[in-house]
Parts: sequence; structure tokens; C-alpha cells
Amino acid sequence: SQLWLVVPAAGIGQRMKAECPKQYLKINNRFILDITLSRLLDNAPFKGCMVPLNPADHWWPDSESAKDDRIQTCTGGKERADSVLSALHALAEQAEDSDWVLVHDAARPCLHGHDLSNLIDTLSDHPVGGLLAAPVADTLKLAGGGVQPEVEETVDRSRLWRALTPQMFRFGALRAALESCLENNQPVTDESSAMEFSGKMPVLVEGRPDNLKITVPSDLALAEFILGRL
Ligand code: CTP
Ligand code: MG
Repeated sequence: SQLWLVVPAAGIGQRMKAECPKQYLKINNRFILDITLSRLLDNAPFKGCMVPLNPADHWWPDSESAKDDRIQTCTGGKERADSVLSALHALAEQAEDSDWVLVHDAARPCLHGHDLSNLIDTLSDHPVGGLLAAPVADTLKLAGGGVQPEVEETVDRSRLWRALTPQMFRFGALRAALESCLENNQPVTDESSAMEFSGKMPVLVEGRPDNLKITVPSDLALAEFILGRL
């Protein structure tokens, strides 16, 4: 079965408070989106790649990726899940239901090539698929109380993981799972949660904790530092 890639890049980066969506901020003079896409495409044998973009996006034509004939674009949607589903629909003519699709956030340029190949190798014979994830490092508190939250209890973190991307699932199963969540108004913040809602059990593949999702302004310097050491 073939490998397909979806890189959702239709967000507006509200929390970054920048003058453009965060995937078009530059690190070492390159768009974050270009760094992310080249890390993926240079480290795994993808058959094709679809990037859902915001309808108001006017930065894409200035990207390196716009000149890369391995990459196609489509129109994204209101939420991340809508954007991913729109990309799957755009690929549906080319992909088989049993093919794999990897979904990776445009805002995660620090993906290590080894994590990408390890994810693919670990899951290639699995019926469902799974995701890169990292064990939680901090002690976790469950909040109760009123205006000023109080600790209700300390949560056992030994079974808690942070969900990262890429997330890798069978093309047809992921499309069906996302469609079903959107029809049922079921909140979906990642592909795994959609699969879980369909009763599937995605595999957690341990990845490096520095696979950072650039979210707030201070993440930029951190990402530059991590990229310098990859
Ligand atoms: N994304 C998308 N379509 C949306 C919302 C998000 O394709 N409707 C993409 C973003 O471009 C990003 C990834 O999903 O690459 C992860 O989302 P997030 O980090 O939340 O990015 P934004 O939604 O852009 O940021 P914010 O939530 O701060 O506005
Ligand atoms: Mg968002």
C-alpha cells in the first residue's frame, strides 16, 4: 500500500498574534511551512502530498513548496478536522482505501527524520495505525474549587501521553471516522480521537519530546534552537 501525506496549513495562528499565519513566519529565512514539508518529503517515500490552505491565504505563492511538483493544495475548512477531511476528499481519486495517510501539522517543523521512519516502520503491518506521542514529564494536577482553582488531586501520569504528529491511519478508515465525527458534532482535535470515536485503538509510538507545535511567540526561538540540533 502507498503512503500519502496531508499537512493541514489552513489555520490563522490566533495565539501567535503575528501579522501573518504562523506557518508563514520565517526561521533561518525560510517559511515554517516549507521547513515542515521538506522534512517530511525528504525523509519518507510519499506517493503524494495535499496541503489544505485557508481561502484567505495569499502567502502560499511565495513559498518554496508552491514550486514543488510533489505538492498539491486544496481549500481547508473551519476547524483542523474540516481541513484534513477536505484534503482526504481531494486525494480520494488517487488513493486506495487500504493505503496509509500520514497527517502532520504545518506548525511542527522540528520533526526528526528517525521518528518519521520509525512511525512508518512500526505501524506498516498494523490494521489500524497510530501516532507519535511522548510521555508526560510534569506532575499533573486535576483542578477543582472556585474562582481560584484548587488542587483536587494529583493525577497518575504513568499512563498519560502527549499526542504529537504525524498520525498514520488507513485512508478509507480515517475518512470515514472524520466524517462520522463531524456528522455527530463529536469534537476532534486530532486524527486519533476520530479513530477512537469509531471504536479503534491507535498505537502510541514514542517520539522525541522536542517535536514542538509552534503555538505562542516564545516557541519561535525554541524551534530555531531545536532545528539547529536535528
Ligand atoms: N489548521 C488547519 N485548519 C484549521 C485550523 C488549523 O489546517 N481550520 C492547521 C494549522 O494551520 C496548524 C495545525 O492545523 O498547522 C494545528 O493547529 P493549531 O496549532 O491550532 O494552529 P492554528 O489554528 O493556526 O493556531 P490557533 O489555534 O492559535 O489559531
Ligand atoms: Mg487552532
